[in-house]
Amino acid sequence: MDRIRIVGGNKLSGSIPISGAKNAALPLMIASMLTDETLTLENVPHLADVEQLIRILGNHGVDYSVNGRRENQLGPYARTINFTAKNIVNTTAPYELVSKMRASFWVIGPLLARMGEARVSLPGGCAIGTRPVDLFIDGLQQLGAGIDVESGYVLARTKDRLIGNRYVFPKVSVGATHVLMMAASLARGETVLENAAREPEIADLATCLNAMGARIEGAGTRTITIDGVDRLHGAVHSVIPDRIETGTYAMAVAMAGGDVVLEGARAEFLEAALDVIRQTGAEVQPLNSGIRITRNGAGIAPVDVVTEPFPGFPTDLQAQFMGLMTMAKGRSKITETIFENRFMHVQELARLGAHISLSGQTAIVDGVKKLKGAPVMATDLRASVSLVIAGLAAEGETTVNRVYHLDRGFERLEEKLSGCGAVIERISG
Ligand code: EPZ
Repeated sequence: MDRIRIVGGNKLSGSIPISGAKNAALPLMIASMLTDETLTLENVPHLADVEQLIRILGNHGVDYSVNGRRENQLGPYARTINFTAKNIVNTTAPYELVSKMRASFWVIGPLLARMGEARVSLPGGCAIGTRPVDLFIDGLQQLGAGIDVESGYVLARTKDRLIGNRYVFPKVSVGATHVLMMAASLARGETVLENAAREPEIADLATCLNAMGARIEGAGTRTITIDGVDRLHGAVHSVIPDRIETGTYAMAVAMAGGDVVLEGARAEFLEAALDVIRQTGAEVQPLNSGIRITRNGAGIAPVDVVTEPFPGFPTDLQAQFMGLMTMAKGRSKITETIFENRFMHVQELARLGAHISLSGQTAIVDGVKKLKGAPVMATDLRASVSLVIAGLAAEGETTVNRVYHLDRGFERLEEKLSGCGAVIERISG
């Protein structure tokens, strides 16, 4: 199993290209099943989760092809992938595929909308929580689907076609908002989604669906209106830059010190996080080409944070921020309100010398002057990168094991950081 070796102490300087957003690419790829024509996605990140979803879509009969480089192509890594669901040959998403990547459960929306039936494995829990799907089931039933849950599978079917309706989310859910927006696009009549998720990835999916012929308004706000159409056609869509990757590298610079431009980043996708990073003492300067992050020797100020749905501070940056706070000049409180078990990184950060105590859903971090490198274990995608952030400033060598968690959501992380002066390498084996 690969691991990442870091020797802390170097400042970062130069630039880091920000990749396409994993959490936009996944729903966009699934949306390709809503049409029998080709959906071309540009700026798709090269990630394990993307490869896994390509396999899952292939299981339903979706063809894909990857374009070669074009002379004016964005960044060195971005890929353009064509997805064609000419015929959907299989409406079952099996446990062995869905359990590996939770977002694959979202195929239930397009399968129902296009085929009138779906048999999708319950995704099961994961390291950060039980991850129920009750809101998906509730919402699809509101659109007229008949749903049973048996032997670990959700069986969904419609008599004829989904029927537009009004659905009020009892709590904000990104995935359920994606799925109901996709399903309602091909329903008969109008659907209104209230208390919908407002993440930028929702608006990105709506932009793509509208390019495919859907009629969606209000994506990115609490109320989304979808006027169903009979069919969708192919389109070309470019994936938005990854706001979580952006926030992660901004915190890496705040931790290690230095001056880095995050190429292609869009500040409007993570204002709450950038504001918190400013409060820690780093300078954050939006540019036309991205965002410039600078932190000189003045140290890291402690800041309290509570995670919230967008536009609040994102749960996907909570672990990274805790990494940064381990060396703040004082106490900070970090409260996780979205997932019930998203503090696995605490024990690993403690192995590096961090002083963190837990009180319910709040972590109390007392910053220390020095962290000391040590072998640590990655437990989930975002926790693993918080260990990298801490390792950048820890004295001596830190080895992060089980980096397959990292590879799910961070494209060529060690290349991007070593390109800015970090001593970091991947050790295969
Ligand atoms: C998406 O997950 C993201 N994943 C997550 O990122 C992110 O942390 C999360 O949204 C919150 O922003 C992708 O986009 C692929 P939710 P999702 O439905 O859609 C509860 C990462 O690191 N809930 O918004 O699964 C749920 O348990 C990942 O990239 C129900 O109770 O999250 C959670 O407590 C991790 N019933 C809360 O809602 C449901 O039917 C928010 O979950 C659905 C969700």
